[in-house]
Parts: sequence; structure tokens; C-alpha cells
Amino acid sequence: MFMNLRRVRKCQFLQLISMCCFLSTLLLCWEQVDHHVLSHVRSYSYRYLINRYDFINKSFRISREEATSFGKFPYLLDHEDICKEKDVLLLLLVKTSPENFLRRWAIRSTWGNQTYMKKELDANVKVVFVMGAHPDEHKRGAIQKQLQIEDQTHKDLVQQDFLDTFHNLTVKLLLQFRWAHTNCAQARFLMSADDDIFIHMPNLIRSLHELSAQGVVDFWVGHVYRGSPPVRRKNSKYYMPVQMYQWSSYPDYTAGAGYVVSRDVAAKIYQATLSLNSSFHIDDVFMGICGISIGVSPQEHGYFSGEGKAPYHPCIYEKMITSHGHVDDVGYLWKVATAPEVNGISSGFFGKLYCTAVRIKLLCWPYFTKTYSCKAAFL
Ligand SMILES: *[C@@H]1O[C@H](CO)[C@@H](O)[C@H](O)[C@H]1NC(C)=O
Ligand SMILES: *[C@@H]1O[C@H](CO)[C@@H](O)[C@H](O)[C@H]1NC(C)=O
Ligand SMILES: *[C@@H]1O[C@H](CO)[C@@H](O)[C@H](O)[C@H]1NC(C)=O
Ligand SMILES: *[C@@H]1O[C@H](CO)[C@@H](O)[C@H](O)[C@H]1NC(C)=O
Repeated sequence: MFMNLRRVRKCQFLQLISMCCFLSTLLLCWEQVDHHVLSHVRSYSYRYLINRYDFINKSFRISREEATSFGKFPYLLDHEDICKEKDVLLLLLVKTSPENFLRRWAIRSTWGNQTYMKKELDANVKVVFVMGAHPDEHKRGAIQKQLQIEDQTHKDLVQQDFLDTFHNLTVKLLLQFRWAHTNCAQARFLMSADDDIFIHMPNLIRSLHELSAQGVVDFWVGHVYRGSPPVRRKNSKYYMPVQMYQWSSYPDYTAGAGYVVSRDVAAKIYQATLSLNSSFHIDDVFMGICGISIGVSPQEHGYFSGEGKAPYHPCIYEKMITSHGHVDDVGYLWKVATAPEVNGISSGFFGKLYCTAVRIKLLCWPYFTKTYSCKAAFL
């Protein structure tokens, strides 16, 4: 009897200990579990079951005077005459930073070559580089001098006097829509792009020509994020304090790396920014907030990438629009992706079969590099 009782106690004691171990491990990892699992479950449930973001209209609306104060920085460099022609297909605004001289140089001689687009693609495209001022005041003077020289040669820089930092990206977004409204409102489409991406201009222009012929409106396309949760870990680049955004799910938005809107949407977004609180610093999510307030939602295109990088293959080049993370190989990619052999590689029954097989292999296998989604293989 006595022995038994002791054994039972010992057993319970062990159970208790293991329970404690389990709970303390869970507690220690709670932030991870919460970040990786629960916040997504909460956010997706909200997006797909409830999907009402009308709190945005109430919480972000401020007076016109307060709202305009966010974007009121004087221009350091500007060209009001870049976009004077009547018929402009695309205004391409490249978000850059003062010190990225080489990236701009590479872009001008590849996917940002306006002469090429006019001659080869019969499209009037205006490429403008937008930026703020260098954040380091010791380097700012010298860099500004170099920028002026660059600008005298190319006349395509637009710069406002705010610090060009990650947390000022929404200010750069305001700059883009305001500049477009003032200087290029007639452009049929507006694209915002990072300076470290690759854009397959022939593919993009071809589809914009088609859309334009259809007279498309309310158009906003890119790599869409739906039901993303705000990041609450303080050490993350994308940390979002509860005071700034208290809800569990962001509205749908497109990756800031590259997205396109039609003329009417660009105008509405500009009007929306005149009454929204733009202190929300994540620029692509802020676009989502603008989208809710004007009642326009983004559409997904399988060959716009977010963080993803395109696999190197002609069957991909034939379809791709944007690809992320190209700094050193822009020249190479431009050459191979726009080579004449790429055109019609998937024409005919066997070509189609071959390219679909290649795309399935490249996009649907679980590689550990981010690229287009598997669905894109079948587009
Ligand atoms: C927010 O307000 C705008 C106009 O004020 C309206 O068009 C839009 O539908 C509203 N959005 C929501 C989600 O209520
Ligand atoms: C831009 O394209 C044109 C026409 O294809 C070409 O002649 C020119 O060299 C290109 N410019 C640059 C800077 O590469
Ligand atoms: C944004 O730019 C303004 C104006 O230059 C500056 O005062 C502010 O500190 C910058 N904000 C951040 C977060 O860098
Ligand atoms: C804008 O939002 C920020 C952060 O949520 C807040 O601190 C600020 O007071 C708001 N501005 C106005 C004018 O309401």
C-alpha cells in the first residue's frame, strides 16, 4: 500500500515536470509560434471570412491641410517638360536612392531605354527616377554634385528634399503620384518600380497596348499579397506598432517592387492621398490602404514577382514581366530575354508542350529559391 502510493506520487511528479517543460518551451517560443502560425491564421481568417476593411476609411482619413503637409517637400531636381507629348503609353517611375548611380546607368541602357521602346516597340514610354536626399549629411554635398552632373546629361531625375530612408518610402510614393498628377496626367498607365528589378519591356508593352485598346479602367496589377498580417516583432524591418495599425490583417496590396495602374486609378490614388494619414511608413501596404479608400482592388498577374527571381530560361523569358534582385546581371538578362529566338519559342503544339513542361519543372518543384508561383506555369 505504502509502496504503491509512493509510486503514484512519483508518476504524478514526473508528469508535472514534463508538463512544466512543455509549457515553458511553448512560452519561450510563443513569439515565434505567434509570428509564424497564429498571426497568419488570424489574418487569413479575417481576409477570407470577413473581408471588411471599412475601418480604414474611418481611421486614416484626416483633414486636407494635415494630409497635404505629408508630401510638401521642395524639389531639388525636377523636369516639368519630360512628359509634354499628348500620347504617352506609360510613365515608368523608378524608385531609386541618390547613391545608386550604377543601377540607373544600367537601367537606362537596358529596360529603361526610351529610344529602344520607341523604335522597336512603337511605344512612347517616359522613364523618371525618383528619390529623396542622401540621409548622411557628410556625404550629401558631394553626392548632390554628382547627381547634378548626371541630371545634366540625362535630364530624368526628380528629387524632393526629404531624407531618402526606408521609413520615408511612403513620402516617395506621394512624390510619384503627385508628380504624375502635375506633369504626366495624360499617360495611359503608370508603373512604379524598384531600381533592383528587371522588367521585360517588350512583354509589358505588348499587354499594355492590348489593355489600352480595350479601354481598361479601374486597373491595378502586380504581385498581390492577400491577408498579410502586420509584423509585430520589434526587430523586424517591417515592424508595425499596434498604435499605427491595430487590426490583424492588411488590405490586399501589390508588392512595391513593381506594379502598374491605369490613368484613372493613378488620378484617384492621388486624390485619396490628399485626405489620408500618410505617416504609415510601409509604402506598398499604404497603396492597399489607398485602394480601399477609392474602392479599387489589385489583380494578380503570375509573372509579376514580389521577392521572387525568374529562372533563366527562354520559356520563362517569353512570359515574364518583372523579376526581383537584379543588380549585376541586368545587362545579361536584357540581352538573353529580348533575343529574337525567344519570340514564338512556344508556338505550335510541340513548342507549347515543351515550354509548359519546362515551366512546370522550373516553377512547381519545391526549390528553395523564391520565384513565380506554380500557377504561372499554366498561363
Ligand atoms: C471608403 O470611402 C470611399 C469614398 O469616400 C468609398 O468609395 C469606399 O467604398 C469606402 N470603402 C469602404 C471599404 O467602405
Ligand atoms: C538604346 O536603344 C537604341 C536603339 O535600340 C540603341 O541604339 C542605343 O544604343 C541604346 N542606348 C543605350 C544607352 O544603350
Ligand atoms: C523623412 O524625411 C524627413 C524630411 O527630411 C525627415 O525629417 C525625417 O526624419 C525622415 N524620416 C525618417 C524616418 O527617416
Ligand atoms: C497619423 O497617424 C499617426 C500614427 O498612427 C498618429 O500618431 C498621428 O496623430 C496621425 N495624424 C493625424 C493628423 O491624425
